[in-house]
Amino acid sequence: MLVVLERDTEQVGLQAAKIVAGAIRRNSSLRLGLATGSTMIGVYRELVRRHREEGLDFSRVVTFNLDEYLGVASTHPQSFHHFMQEHLFAGVNIPRANIHIPDGTLTGNYDAYCEQYEQAIRDAGGIDLQLLGIGRNGHIGFNEPMSSLGSRTRMKELSAETIADNRKSFAPGEEMPQCAITMGIGTILETRRILLLATGAAKADAIAKSIEGPVAASVTASALQLHRDVTFIIDEEAGSLLTHKPYYAHVLKMTRSLMPERLS
Ligand code: GLP
Repeated sequence: MLVVLERDTEQVGLQAAKIVAGAIRRNSSLRLGLATGSTMIGVYRELVRRHREEGLDFSRVVTFNLDEYLGVASTHPQSFHHFMQEHLFAGVNIPRANIHIPDGTLTGNYDAYCEQYEQAIRDAGGIDLQLLGIGRNGHIGFNEPMSSLGSRTRMKELSAETIADNRKSFAPGEEMPQCAITMGIGTILETRRILLLATGAAKADAIAKSIEGPVAASVTASALQLHRDVTFIIDEEAGSLLTHKPYYAHVLKMTRSLMPERLS
């Protein structure tokens, strides 16, 4: 596990984008797992800039998004389809056929659809690099507390806390989705490399529990401790409750000197 403590939100976005861009340069057919949420905006902004100004090529990149609200059309401004189009896809040269996002308009047969989504990931050869944000309650994707740590892509009920947190992006009085389709923890743990990003004091408790707490379904991001290649990129506020900061700084320094490609 690598913990990268950055000064602020902007640096978190730049560092994550640098790693993603490096991965695409090393493998033009990168299978990239994507996340939504405000934490990701800076990452996508920098990837779009690198595409425009440095020619970062997305023409062979294949993407799989983590999740989507259920009961929300792809054209809805708060859908994750819309978010991805606005913040990344419209700004880079990725072919439509290479993009995979769970369908939020399903009305039944969720299990068959979710199995197809898992199959599409397998058919592509698995996900090389997965971006993750984190909820205040420690969720990744929409794997709410008490999700099975072996879970696969499925329909999931949102917790009251998540509904309250995400309500800010919906219009006042608008009905909030109560469910989502999300990759499972088991699905996420099979990806080859994970970058989890967090910024702000509201995430500090979830980050401390995920990195230093016991592996527990009550904080689903703690399952990442079982992954062989996870990098947490967090700002000072999100890292404020960590107790082993000098050790993380030491590991980071050694990584920068011995394996610089891990960070670029
Ligand atoms: C949603 C998404 C998560 C994301 C979280 C945090 O719940 N399903 O994948 O990590 O929001 O969002 P933000 O970055 O806006 O705090």
